[in-house]
Amino acid sequence: MRVLSGIQPSGRLHIGNFFGATRQHLEMQAENDAFYFIADYHALTSNPSPTEIAQYTLDVAADYITLGLDTDKTVFWRQSDVPEVTEFTWLLSCVTPMGLLQRCTSYKDKVAQGFSPNHGLFAYPVLQAADILIFNSELVPVGADQKQHIEVTRDIAVRFNNAYGPILTIPREHIIESVAVVPGTDGRKMSKSYGNTIEIFEPEESVTKKIMRIVTDSTPVEEPKDPERCNVFALLKLVAQPEELAEWQGRYRAGGLGYAEVKKRLGELMVDYFRPYRQKRAELEDNPDYVRQVLAKGAERARAVATETLARVREAVGLGGHYV
Ligand code: ADP
Ligand code: TRP
Repeated sequence: MRVLSGIQPSGRLHIGNFFGATRQHLEMQAENDAFYFIADYHALTSNPSPTEIAQYTLDVAADYITLGLDTDKTVFWRQSDVPEVTEFTWLLSCVTPMGLLQRCTSYKDKVAQGFSPNHGLFAYPVLQAADILIFNSELVPVGADQKQHIEVTRDIAVRFNNAYGPILTIPREHIIESVAVVPGTDGRKMSKSYGNTIEIFEPEESVTKKIMRIVTDSTPVEEPKDPERCNVFALLKLVAQPEELAEWQGRYRAGGLGYAEVKKRLGELMVDYFRPYRQKRAELEDNPDYVRQVLAKGAERARAVATETLARVREAVGLGGHYV
């Protein structure tokens, strides 16, 4: 199955990104024909500086490669290295009703958060549809926040096919739900925009320090506690073995457990979880050319598919080789 997903280069990956998206992307590689890319055209909608966007693209790519991206099998590239997708965006724009975009909640959310309401932000779902459709994607693994964009993609594809014939593959979404929401250090959803993240590859001491500062309630030590309402336990679930987890669960409920003790254990487990990858991540940090090479090779493979689809689409809409 052709599986495709895009990852915005908005900084180094945090553990919310990993357990909420990256881990599943990596798991899906083995049994599928996976296409993953760094969505730098999308990131431009929030006006990063030129150095930020370039650096973050390399950072996110290096994180993926470190954590297990199969550079031989999976097609992995930088979105802007396949510019055909922007031409395709225009062709799709011309079958996309304004109302469809006006209904998208992500635009309204971003504007409410203070992002400048530029046209790119508004047209973003059409670019995303082009990403998906140009590679004949069948399945798109994304977080729940992206569900509406996949519905818009399907809608645009159906409209295009109705107008020009059965050219485009209609994709399905695959909502990544195995982990609902990873909480950040302040208990809200872990997110760069809240400044409450723990990066996968920040120094180990910094990971443990942040974990010790996770917000907990003020239940006294002796009283029983509900593990399901605890931010520390929510993170422990991601990294502890089932037997150990059950033990902690019992201790929460029994009373007499101080949060410092469980935070200390969580720190150890979290650091242990990513330790096997640290060496490789450091090597890639010193060798960005390797990361660039992986992306360049991916771009070449991606571009071959994109060019082929775009040629069919141009032909269908009347921009093919013959004038009449
Ligand atoms: P951020 O909120 O930090 O900007 P993104 O929106 O770039 O993160 O998220 C990239 C991917 O990681 C998305 O698929 C999203 O669903 C997933 N993700 C981000 N934060 C979390 C979280 N706290 N819990 C679970 N998944 C998350
Ligand atoms: N919009 C997605 C996000 O913010 C990233 C993305 C861009 C994407 N193009 C895509 C995801 C195509 C899936 C398919 O996370």
